[in-house]
Amino acid sequence: MRVFICLTWLTLLTNVQSVPAWYKAPREAILATERRQSIGGMLTLTSEEEAVNKIIMAAKQTEINSAIYDHSNFIPAVHFFQGRHLMEQSKVFKIIQQMPKGAALHLHYGSITSNDWLVKNVTYRPDCYMCVKQKVITKTGFYVTPPSDKDCKWLRISAERAKSKDITEFDQWLYNNLTLTVDNPEVVYPNINVIWRRFEQYFKTVRGLLKNAPVMKDALYETLREFHVDGVQYLEIRIGLIRPYEVNGTTHDTTWFVETFRDVVNQFKQDYPDFSGAKLILAGRKVNSASAILQDVKVVTDLVKRFPDVILGYDLVQQEDVTHTLLYYISDLLYPESHSSNLPYFFHAGETDWLDIHDNNLIDAILLNTSRIGHGFAIPKHPEVMRLIKERNIPIEVNPISNQVLKLVSDLRNHPAAILISQDFPVCISSDDPAPWEALPLSHDFYMAFMALAASDDDLRVLKQLAINSMNFSGMTSQEKASALRLWETKWNSFLKHVLRSHTTPIVG
Ligand SMILES: *[C@@H]1O[C@H](CO)[C@@H](O)[C@H](O)[C@H]1NC(C)=O
Ligand SMILES: *[C@@H]1O[C@H](CO)[C@@H](O)[C@H](O)[C@H]1NC(C)=O
Ligand SMILES: *[C@@H]1O[C@H](CO)[C@@H](O)[C@H](O)[C@H]1NC(C)=O
Ligand SMILES: *[C@@H]1O[C@H](CO)[C@@H](O)[C@H](O)[C@H]1NC(C)=O
Ligand SMILES: *[C@@H]1O[C@H](CO)[C@@H](O)[C@H](O)[C@H]1NC(C)=O
Ligand SMILES: [Zn+2]
Repeated sequence: MRVFICLTWLTLLTNVQSVPAWYKAPREAILATERRQSIGGMLTLTSEEEAVNKIIMAAKQTEINSAIYDHSNFIPAVHFFQGRHLMEQSKVFKIIQQMPKGAALHLHYGSITSNDWLVKNVTYRPDCYMCVKQKVITKTGFYVTPPSDKDCKWLRISAERAKSKDITEFDQWLYNNLTLTVDNPEVVYPNINVIWRRFEQYFKTVRGLLKNAPVMKDALYETLREFHVDGVQYLEIRIGLIRPYEVNGTTHDTTWFVETFRDVVNQFKQDYPDFSGAKLILAGRKVNSASAILQDVKVVTDLVKRFPDVILGYDLVQQEDVTHTLLYYISDLLYPESHSSNLPYFFHAGETDWLDIHDNNLIDAILLNTSRIGHGFAIPKHPEVMRLIKERNIPIEVNPISNQVLKLVSDLRNHPAAILISQDFPVCISSDDPAPWEALPLSHDFYMAFMALAASDDDLRVLKQLAINSMNFSGMTSQEKASALRLWETKWNSFLKHVLRSHTTPIVG
């Protein structure tokens, strides 16, 4: 059967050669135009890049060909929880892992530090407690004496670990209680509301760990380290206006947090001179009252003035289709504009399958002069929004795996960002919340973008342009951007040499 299909398919391909020239010419012209119009389509590769391109395109073609008969082989077409282990065998993936990917611009504190580190490092600290209800961890925290709680039982983790028969098993249990990964995601998470509830539970569970002031310092450093290892040189992190706490119960304000963040980033840059830095976008929650959001807006406007080198602006987060719209908060969000002040916005918008009042957030985001759009999954349904985005060059932060895990799309070949990439919209790739679903900081998402959002024949140029875009669309100053790009070019050149060294004989499909 397979041989038969194979032959038919080959016959189909060879038949192309009998197309008359007068027909073939306009056909080629259309294809060439489309190629030029897509992201990276105007780049010219150097001879070294051409050599690497041959290697990566041969591998890409092999992976696509092997999936034409069996879609379960095509990683972006299956659920990430089931496809992740297949990636370990992918040559394309291994190359992308090595590639310097520039910046990750759409990330949330609370879901970007690996569960491995939380379990192996944070839960090993003295005074670390978990609140357990029917063998499920619902909360965590650091205490001298834990509070009494009606809903769950507070237990000192180190004591429970010591009591357990098998430490590996105990740590595995902790790990399993954090991760969203399961073998049968379609059954466990049948719809968007179920997966979002589990996702929000993750944030609730780790909050007590990550809001602890000493942990926070280490977690930020560890996050930068994990991203750096994965080929990311600059990060923008969204975070709520939190009050980090000490084990004795005293709390710090946002100013403390911003200064601490700046110190950690500077320390990291000192330790790793090939790192460009990190900045913050503060965020409110779309279930909060209008007065709470107005309060945020005032506080963040002031913080941006005081820390222009660290804080870029403000965003509103949470499951878009069941929470308040931007329009609901319009007078609060217009407050800076109506008080001759300024607050840059970085709104999540159009992170939904609906075509309704919620994805109209795209329109309000644009009217509120958003600096970028988070997700923008619904953009291709709005022609006027598309026109404005193109005209005003509003970057779109695309997070492929997040959109799949959180149930907007199952087969990533159907991801609407394919339309944006094919028309050179200002797109960059990020990973949103890699920790709860055990994705690497950026490599897994970059792989999905290359294999499924870009066309089969989109090549090294799309990868290169996406990396450049990520830095170009960041909140770095123009000076910082120029130096980040210079640094990236050095990394890019050693990446090319590395690929060429490790693939001395070109692979044939
Ligand atoms: C946790 O990480 C911190 C900071 O990186 C380090 O100093 C400490 O020794 C680690 N603790 C454990 C138990 O691994
Ligand atoms: C935590 O572990 C328990 C028992 O091992 C399990 O039943 C539960 O589903 C886990 N919690 C989560 C949120 O997965
Ligand atoms: C609580 O701990 C912090 C950090 O160790 C310390 O600076 C502060 O003085 C302590 N506060 C009290 C009331 O003990
Ligand atoms: C958006 O920018 C335009 C042009 O700079 C300005 O006229 C308008 O007032 C801004 N809107 C808001 C809501 O800040
Ligand atoms: C950066 O983005 C701007 C606006 O989209 C564009 O004009 C410029 O060419 C980009 N630069 C690079 C290096 O891609
Ligand atoms: Zn997000």
